Amino acid sequence: MSLVVLISGRGSNLQAIAAAGLPVAAVISNRADAAGLEFARRHGIETAVVPHREFPSREAFDEALARIVDRCAPGAIALAGFMRIFTPGFVARYAGRLINIHPSLLPAFPGLDTHARALAAGVKLHGCTVHFVTADLDQGPIVAQAAVPVLTGDTAAELAARVLRQEHVIYPRALAWLLGGKLVIEDGRVRVNDSHAAQFVFSPDA
Ligand code: GRF
Repeated sequence: MSLVVLISGRGSNLQAIAAAGLPVAAVISNRADAAGLEFARRHGIETAVVPHREFPSREAFDEALARIVDRCAPGAIALAGFMRIFTPGFVARYAGRLINIHPSLLPAFPGLDTHARALAAGVKLHGCTVHFVTADLDQGPIVAQAAVPVLTGDTAAELAARVLRQEHVIYPRALAWLLGGKLVIEDGRVRVNDSHAAQFVFSPDA
């Protein structure tokens, strides 16, 4: 079972996914200038650009995206910094296969600017969450989380970098579970069918 990765920018999670040896069938971006596309091309991974501005509606954009995704018949569709919100139809079509990484310990700080908001709130732990995508933004069933400390004097950029290192740990791990058919969703909660699986990481490393 392969996976398709959707990106809009840098692509560091894409790199971590590829470095973990996961079978990336294609990388699709809504932006032609996404740096992650260059990484994919250099590594012989099929790429496609679906520029959202060229579509008259969200439905039309999602249709075009789905046509490319379906050509790969992927076991998972991984959002990795993909900055578009899907229509409910797209989400329903890929239910149980559509997965995202979000840079906060959900349900805290859904949406944008999570690191600055975490600093402003004075939280002492921050982190990232891998979750299934549902029609409600950043609220799908949680697969894995990593926590890091918030240190005195942290800037949003420093905190973001600390969190990102852990994104690169938990996202490939969660995707391997999904592709391996190990994830079970029960009452909106996710269990891994593997007694050795750790669904959390705490990294005190600054
Ligand atoms: C990551 O922080 C991810 O959590 C968020 O967008 C960022 C993408 O970074 N959804 P990259 O493109 O994977 O480097």
